[in-house]
Amino acid sequence: MSFAGTDIAATSKTDLYDRLATQLSSLLAGERDLIANAANFSSLIFHSLPDLNWAGFYFEQNGELVLGPFQGKPACVRIKLGQGVCGAGAAKCETVIVPNVHEFPGHIACDSASNSEIVVPLMKDARLIGVLDLDSPLAARFDEDDGRGLEGLVRILLSSVNS
Ligand code: SME
Repeated sequence: MSFAGTDIAATSKTDLYDRLATQLSSLLAGERDLIANAANFSSLIFHSLPDLNWAGFYFEQNGELVLGPFQGKPACVRIKLGQGVCGAGAAKCETVIVPNVHEFPGHIACDSASNSEIVVPLMKDARLIGVLDLDSPLAARFDEDDGRGLEGLVRILLSSVNS
């Protein structure tokens, strides 16, 4: 996978996430609104990580996930906990990496271009707030390094906001 072409010159995936963490911290500094910061987060990620066709958030409301700020094509608005990749990540409160969405039971296809996906839960004080969801047209686009990198970025988002 090439890291050239992103706005941030990086030599490795870990390096890219380190640089994104620095950029994200300055982008969110001074603002404590969750929706505003989630919106800028999704834009930064979508335009900096290679090979994504969707990047955004679902927030937990009364036992279901409701669409939040995102970049990409229009998406399904409500997902029940346990349903699809997002609902699985939310129900387990764990990062879920799906190398081939077509083999994931119950996968919800919002964009037919998606072939792989990663979902990272948003946890504040052991409470589920929502999930970050990234989709890629490439098979097996996401690995453990992406999981760790995105979990770090999510921590920066959560510590920036009032919730
Ligand atoms: N594929 C997701 C649904 C959300 S979209 O990818 C934006 C899922 O299976 O939960």
